[in-house]
Amino acid sequence: MTSTIERPGLQITGVCKAYGGLQVLSDVTLRAPAGAITAVIGPNGAGKSTLANVISGFVTQDRGEVVVNGVRLPPGKAVTRAEHRLGRTFQNLEIFTGMTVLQNVAMGAYSRQRGSHLGDLVRGPRARRDEIEVKEAALALLRRFRLEHRADSLVESLPFGEAKLVEMVRVLAMEPEVVVLDEPAAGLPPASALPLAETIAGLAEDGIGVLLIEHNMKLVMSISQHVVVLDQGQVLTEGSPAEVQQDPRVIEAYLGPGATTSEELTL
Ligand SMILES: Nc1ncnc2c1ncn2[C@@H]1O[C@H](COP(=O)(O)OP(=O)(O)O)[C@@H](O)[C@H]1O
Ligand SMILES: [Mg+2]
Repeated sequence: MTSTIERPGLQITGVCKAYGGLQVLSDVTLRAPAGAITAVIGPNGAGKSTLANVISGFVTQDRGEVVVNGVRLPPGKAVTRAEHRLGRTFQNLEIFTGMTVLQNVAMGAYSRQRGSHLGDLVRGPRARRDEIEVKEAALALLRRFRLEHRADSLVESLPFGEAKLVEMVRVLAMEPEVVVLDEPAAGLPPASALPLAETIAGLAEDGIGVLLIEHNMKLVMSISQHVVVLDQGQVLTEGSPAEVQQDPRVIEAYLGPGATTSEELTL
């Protein structure tokens, strides 16, 4: 069993990012420990996706550190994230069109293998054995998420909710220790929110450190252990879901100045 002491998860310290004169992230510090769901909420434009991009190396921060299990990740190098067992999903669905569901999930597993023994995949018996292992692992994951019947379907033929799930399963195939989920509920019909919540809760139960970036308050409040509120690139406040929901500054950031009721945030 992996203990959370050995595996501290994700630590972000003092992250700053500006685009031109626009300071998008100002000194953001937060932690997403192993085996828990840490949510980042905040109004549109707060800097949530930029934070996800910095963590996953798609955007280079001006200052600050991203550390996974005690190892500092090189800024702006997305290709290194698999070897550090850090996975992410995107606010806009990122899947490999023209490939089947099984092939999509296998891509996740390959990215893990590339991190562990680069070059072995070129040819030879080892490569073939790896290929079989990858396929078996991908099929097992598809079974677990009740997508096995879709294995040979082209991924673009799936309903949006299932395609989003495939994206998440592909990330899990790389056996991540930390995942960053950027608005997983975006574009999903409300009926899909509950199964999605259960899926995300399952990741944390498996010991993964989950950073859940989400606009859907109901989802956040129902499954997160800790909530960080980002507003104009800064951590406005953080605490338990109940604490954050009652915070007047959060109500104001979401509902505008003068708002006094937390009713709309209490779902
Ligand atoms: N590549 C970029 N160039 C310039 N401005 C950007 C870029 N990416 C994001 N921004 C700006 O940064 C701010 C935060 O955006 P974003 O991180 O997408 O917020 P959120 O995900 O919280 O809605 C917005 O004002 C957005 O216009
Ligand atoms: Mg966003």
